[in-house]
Amino acid sequence: MKDLSSPSRPFSPKLTEEDKTLDLTLRPKTWQDYIGQEKVKKNIQIIIQAAKKRGEPIEHLLFYGGSGLGKTTISHIIAKELDTNIRVIAGPVIEKIGDLAAILTNLNEGDVLFIDEFHRLNRLIEEFIYPALEDFKLNLILGKGPMARTMELKLPRFTLIGATTRLALLSAPLRNRFGATFQLDYYKKEDIEKIIQRSSRLLRIEIEPDAVKIITQCSRFTPRTANRLLKRVRDFAQVEGKGKITKDIAEKALKFLEIDELGLESGDRKILEVIIKKFEGGPVGLQTLSAATSEEEDTILDIYEPYLMQLGFIERTPRGRTATKLAYQHLGIKCKNSQKLL
Ligand code: ADE
Repeated sequence: MKDLSSPSRPFSPKLTEEDKTLDLTLRPKTWQDYIGQEKVKKNIQIIIQAAKKRGEPIEHLLFYGGSGLGKTTISHIIAKELDTNIRVIAGPVIEKIGDLAAILTNLNEGDVLFIDEFHRLNRLIEEFIYPALEDFKLNLILGKGPMARTMELKLPRFTLIGATTRLALLSAPLRNRFGATFQLDYYKKEDIEKIIQRSSRLLRIEIEPDAVKIITQCSRFTPRTANRLLKRVRDFAQVEGKGKITKDIAEKALKFLEIDELGLESGDRKILEVIIKKFEGGPVGLQTLSAATSEEEDTILDIYEPYLMQLGFIERTPRGRTATKLAYQHLGIKCKNSQKLL
């Protein structure tokens, strides 16, 4: 699988070993502990209750939204609520039809199969998935040419949960196979504050309310980033301070990490600077931007761009990305041709 970026960066899309341990400690395991995404939560609770009443597995679900917003966490809670097993796999790992057959035939009735990076599923696999989702059957082709035979495998009734950061890359027929689709959006400021307070309690670290606010401000309104930053700041508090996360310690730690007051790190600033300085504010195409910044196109699309657009710092036009007036202001760069600015 392609390595999207260095895991040492606070906003890296990649789950590191440290994240996995962090996830195990901090990840909420019940709806009660899960903060935010209220509408999605309510909708799923209804789907679960109704399916339980009917004594059936729940419909297949599709989650889309940025990385670190809780797609995996919610899926684990769903499996726990249903009292079933969950099998977690990344889309690109399923390379051949045999891989799919092995996964599906190993499921038990009612199990949840969670496929992450669903948009990266091999196209050839897609057509085998349709009967598996609709009729819980897998049609295998044995042999080649005139000797080829098809064999139908009956599958247990399972629930597929697909997760993607790029809904538009899924074909319409594939999207239509899901009973419900949910978008996970950035969290509210108050929710990130609560998440940081909860995580601090679990990590047994004292934190001042002002420090919670500062970390929230830099969290990109994403729980995974908030928790990663909290951990970095905690290390700083233990080495440079007296173990408590004060406002002063939080500010110093974030400055040390080169994260500014809006949560932008050096990679974000580089993208803005390249658009502004090398391409006179844009428009610049994705490929060119990727080459000029040495960032993977996927990383720009999944990590940098959504937050920069959310802040109103860049806009996507048919001819490419453009930096806005707000971006110039944030970087303290004067625009030579202010007429051009959005
Ligand atoms: N940790 C990560 N995501 C969380 C959430 N939504 N609620 C509570 N803690 C979390």
